[in-house]
Amino acid sequence: MSSQRIQLLSPRLANQIAAGEVVERPASVIKELLENSLDAGATRIEVELEQGGVKLMSVRDNGRGIHQEDLLLAVSRHATSKIVRDEDLHAIQTLGFRGEALASVASVSRFLIQSATDNQGGHAVEVDGGNEARERPASQPQGTLVEVRDLFYNVPARRKFLRAERTELSHIEEVFKRVALSHFAVGFSLKHNGKVLKQYHPANTLEAQEKRIAAILGQEFISNALHVENAAVGLALSGWIAQPTFSRSQSDMQYLFLNGRVIRDKNLTFAIKKAYSDVLYHGRFPVYALYLTIQPDMVDVNVHPSKHEVRFREHRLVFDFLYRTLKQALADVRPSHDLQPAQMTGAFKTLSDDTVSFRRAATQPYRSEPVEQAAIEFAFGAHSPQVPAAQVFEALAVEDSAPRVIEQHPLGNALAQLHGVYILAQNAKGLVIVDMHAAHERISYERLKTAFFEEGIHRQHLLVPLSIHLSEKDMACVLEHMDTFRKLGLILQESGPDVVLLREVPMVLSNANCEALIKDVLSDLNELGESERLQDTIQDILSTMACHGAIRANRQLSLAEMNALLRDMEMTERSGQCNHGRPTWAQLRLEDLDKLLMRGQ
Ligand SMILES: Nc1ncnc2c1ncn2[C@@H]1O[C@H](COP(=O)(O)OP(=O)(O)OP(=O)(O)O)[C@@H](O)[C@H]1O
Ligand SMILES: [Mg+2]
Repeated sequence: MSSQRIQLLSPRLANQIAAGEVVERPASVIKELLENSLDAGATRIEVELEQGGVKLMSVRDNGRGIHQEDLLLAVSRHATSKIVRDEDLHAIQTLGFRGEALASVASVSRFLIQSATDNQGGHAVEVDGGNEARERPASQPQGTLVEVRDLFYNVPARRKFLRAERTELSHIEEVFKRVALSHFAVGFSLKHNGKVLKQYHPANTLEAQEKRIAAILGQEFISNALHVENAAVGLALSGWIAQPTFSRSQSDMQYLFLNGRVIRDKNLTFAIKKAYSDVLYHGRFPVYALYLTIQPDMVDVNVHPSKHEVRFREHRLVFDFLYRTLKQALADVRPSHDLQPAQMTGAFKTLSDDTVSFRRAATQPYRSEPVEQAAIEFAFGAHSPQVPAAQVFEALAVEDSAPRVIEQHPLGNALAQLHGVYILAQNAKGLVIVDMHAAHERISYERLKTAFFEEGIHRQHLLVPLSIHLSEKDMACVLEHMDTFRKLGLILQESGPDVVLLREVPMVLSNANCEALIKDVLSDLNELGESERLQDTIQDILSTMACHGAIRANRQLSLAEMNALLRDMEMTERSGQCNHGRPTWAQLRLEDLDKLLMRGQ
């Protein structure tokens, strides 16, 4: 039992308590040290680790350095060079500002900091587990070196929670990755137990930056990414987002930086997800590395000790800016879109190497079984009999650059229909293969959406009204949402306790099976419940409707119909992928066909 009298904590205890908040494991120390080096304007930062960082973490930079007189202050709590006046706290320009990271780390380790502001020799300060700091001269070029040994050696409770070397190292690598992604102009290296694990040179051109992104997030990401850049209303956004055909089953490749800081923000994550909502299959996650810049006084970063969370003065503005910018970038993905032919080579490599990585990333589950069935039955010929056509085409499905001069149409002219599933067309580059159901579904969907949100859906009278029998629950739902149905272009009329008459349907869907359509819309409505959410998810309903309206497999199309579909695709936003994020078309270039058939070898 304590004496129940109040006493001030010793600085050592106060630091250890503060350390509890920011120093969770070796990776948190690395984060703090890297941030300090970046704040010091370093252009080279070298990290060295031993035993997953538990035995030793050393960070060496070529930044501004610390004045000899300030060196002891650097390891004291509530001491910082980053905030001077009260107002500074409301417009923070640096990564650190709390003035306690070093004091915290030094209180739970054997700590050394050595620094110099020029090349005339420097000074060092050592602290053992938060005890009295000792200063001495040290030979040190301009910059700072921090060494943290035996983390938590004096805090057994914390030490117990350290995991295997491998695990701690992988946490550090993740931190390192994020920092390297967020500061292109700085060169970084990472060594573990004497072995160089990562090395990035300063990247000051777009090309060099893409190289770094490829090294960190994979070449496939960058090959499948759109570069975005936009600025408005005091905000700027740049970075790379993967095309919907390259998505993940988890959210592990989503990087969002705000003013050079890694942040977690549910709201902004949602804004990005929403931008993809129309082109990504449910349950898939977009991949991105995005850099948001905002005036420092528009955001409060002093929300959480580890500074992962922020609060925006006008969060709606930021949300809309992010959402609109990305939505537009994704809308521009259509057949005329320019992409480097290099991707094609990559795709072919995938084929011959029999690796699945590219395909896995680009794959979306099929929804309409007839198409899938037919596609799988269609094998790709003797060279890779084990790879079904569907997979091959998915692997190949990348937008290629628009043909020049000779061909007017990016998707060329239709030649034939294959197995009732694909349209084959010829363009200047070679052969174009279009998944006709997926493409048509996309086009119908885009039309329904435009109509719904802009001019209202055009309807067509059915010559004979269709009577549809419904369950009690569905009947109630119809009556409740009569108005919604009307807005969707479906005019229904009650005609008995369990029957409704369908009198008018949207023009685009005049060929659809309307009874099945009504039942699917009802199930969407039942799932969504109250009408407020309905507005948000009206797109899901339109997507269901488009699926019903789209050409089914095995329908014979005339050449004119096929060409009309190709022209529609070229004009429609987002037509590069279907409503579920699968590609709608693929280009097989003549060179690729030559290679496949070994022509000229
Ligand atoms: N690598 C470095 N190069 C130059 N100065 C440094 C370096 N590391 C620390 N400093 C100096 O030491 C001070 C204390 O660092 P510390 O990390 O404890 O606090 P901070 O960065 O100011 O705030 P926070 O606690 O939010 O990180 C900094 O304000 C900075 O002046
Ligand atoms: Mg700091």
